[in-house]
Amino acid sequence: MRSSLVHLLLSILLSKTEKISFENVTVRWRLDDKVEETVATSNNLKKIIPDEKEVSVEITGNVPTLYEKSVYDIRNLNTLNLTDVGLKEIKPGAFGNLPRLKTLVLTWNNLTEIQTNTFTNLNVTLINLSSNSIVTLQPGAFKNFHAEHVSLDNNKLTEIPNGVFEKATLQSISLSRNLLHIIAPKALSSIALTRLFMFDNNFEEIDPEAFDMQDLIALDLKNNAIKLLRPGDLKNLPKLQLFTLAYNELEEIPEGVFNNTKLIYLNLNQNKITQIASKAFDDMSALNVLDVDSNNLTQWDNNWLSGAKSVVDIWVSYNVITQIPDEAFKNYPRVESISFHGNEIKKISVKAFDKLERVEYLDLSDNEIDEWNPDLLVNVSVGGLDLSGNKLNCIDGDLKTIFTNVESINLWENPWNETCAKGIDEYITNWQTVQK
Ligand SMILES: *[C@@H]1O[C@H](CO)[C@@H](O)[C@H](O)[C@H]1NC(C)=O
Ligand SMILES: *[C@@H]1O[C@H](CO)[C@@H](O)[C@H](O)[C@H]1NC(C)=O
Ligand SMILES: *[C@@H]1O[C@H](CO)[C@@H](O)[C@H](O)[C@H]1NC(C)=O
Ligand SMILES: *[C@@H]1O[C@H](CO)[C@@H](O)[C@H](O)[C@H]1NC(C)=O
Ligand SMILES: *[C@@H]1O[C@H](CO)[C@@H](O)[C@H](O)[C@H]1NC(C)=O
Ligand SMILES: *[C@@H]1O[C@H](CO)[C@@H](O)[C@H](O)[C@H]1NC(C)=O
Ligand SMILES: *[C@@H]1O[C@H](CO)[C@@H](O)[C@H](O)[C@H]1NC(C)=O
Ligand SMILES: *[C@@H]1O[C@H](CO)[C@@H](O)[C@H](O)[C@H]1NC(C)=O
Ligand SMILES: *[C@@H]1O[C@H](CO)[C@@H](O)[C@H](O)[C@H]1NC(C)=O
Repeated sequence: MRSSLVHLLLSILLSKTEKISFENVTVRWRLDDKVEETVATSNNLKKIIPDEKEVSVEITGNVPTLYEKSVYDIRNLNTLNLTDVGLKEIKPGAFGNLPRLKTLVLTWNNLTEIQTNTFTNLNVTLINLSSNSIVTLQPGAFKNFHAEHVSLDNNKLTEIPNGVFEKATLQSISLSRNLLHIIAPKALSSIALTRLFMFDNNFEEIDPEAFDMQDLIALDLKNNAIKLLRPGDLKNLPKLQLFTLAYNELEEIPEGVFNNTKLIYLNLNQNKITQIASKAFDDMSALNVLDVDSNNLTQWDNNWLSGAKSVVDIWVSYNVITQIPDEAFKNYPRVESISFHGNEIKKISVKAFDKLERVEYLDLSDNEIDEWNPDLLVNVSVGGLDLSGNKLNCIDGDLKTIFTNVESINLWENPWNETCAKGIDEYITNWQTVQK
């Protein structure tokens, strides 16, 4: 009897001392541009800092656990920075009644999970949880939570289960540098997300039930392991405008994936794409930028981008394209730039530029072009033309006439033959005067 009473008292005592979240920590706060600092021990941050005006607080030292109500009922707390304090656990209910809290920084700690009700009822601008070791997000971890941005970058998450963001609203989430390959169906739906950053993860596909975010505008899936795109993959992303799939493992782009989307920017660079269906980019009426640099394309299809009324920049550098076909750019008569830098283009069809009216910058550098038909650009106006690093020996005819519609030209690093070299030199030297 007595020993159990002692035991009980002891455990009450222990559990009481255990609940001190801040022990011998340095607390620094900013008030009216004045910085003050104290070393303190307390179970609630409220008792340490002044309670008059809005304060921004930074804690250094060791805070292994944030117990229930440790950051509680602080009406004037604006920012709390708990970076690199060895934090291992946040008990549910640690945070609450923080009406002015805007920024909560919990980076570079040792959190492994976010428990149910950890961030419930907070309404903040930013929570930064990057660079912890978070493996698990429990259902309800961010229940009824509101924020502009949450960063969970550089953790160890493999999946986003259902219910984590129950009744939450969040403008953007950053989940880059994790091990993600699964999002539970609808786990990120209904939170009004507009931007989602998930580069450096392990996704192998885009499951339309998981990627069901009716308000999403920007999606970054750079450096995942996506091998395959299917028609309908983007069907639940009706507002998507900026989409990055660079550094994945795509080999082909079938028809119907991007059709009729509102994409403005599509980045497919650094994949292994060898095939793109003729109609793959049809009716992308809002598209400004198509980037297919650093793939394995062997040919340019003049049917691509039909109905792409807004296209501005086309990047096709570092592929293995060998020729430019007739009417290659017929679907977009006026564009800012087209870059074929670093391909294997040898042949340019005489009618290649037919139906093209104006291009601000046409980059054909570092190819295998060994012949330039004098008529190629007679009907096209070109801001800058880069033909450097090709195999041209000579361009027959009067260069001033041939390039009359070209405002500036780079002809460096071609093996001009002796007879021609003089003319080329003279032409280049006089370029400025030619322009006037
Ligand atoms: C906090 O400081 C007191 C007094 O210096 C010391 O007895 C105690 O061990 C310290 N606690 C920790 C966790 O460092
Ligand atoms: C948080 O505190 C750390 C360490 O004191 C500091 O390096 C960092 O810049 C602070 N971060 C923010 C967002 O204030
Ligand atoms: C805790 O996190 C810090 C900063 O991220 C890291 O240096 C340290 O190795 C981690 N400790 C443990 C025990 O994981
Ligand atoms: C969150 O706070 C902002 C102002 O800081 C307010 O406009 C918004 O309505 C709040 N949201 C909720 C759901 O309470
Ligand atoms: C979150 O913290 C990390 C590490 O300090 C920092 O690099 C990143 O910019 C922060 N994110 C935001 C949105 O402030
Ligand atoms: C894609 O668009 C083209 C042109 O509008 C159309 O012919 C084709 O049927 C569409 N494909 C799919 C799968 O929607
Ligand atoms: C490009 O395609 C060729 C032939 O299909 C293949 O041998 C080569 O490995 C591919 N290169 C890349 C980088 O995928
Ligand atoms: C240039 O345009 C004129 C007028 O449309 C046309 O007659 C001529 O064939 C065109 N020349 C070339 C080389 O395309
Ligand atoms: C240089 O090229 C021109 C035009 O192709 C040709 O007429 C001339 O013979 C060539 N000169 C030499 C030295 O090869």
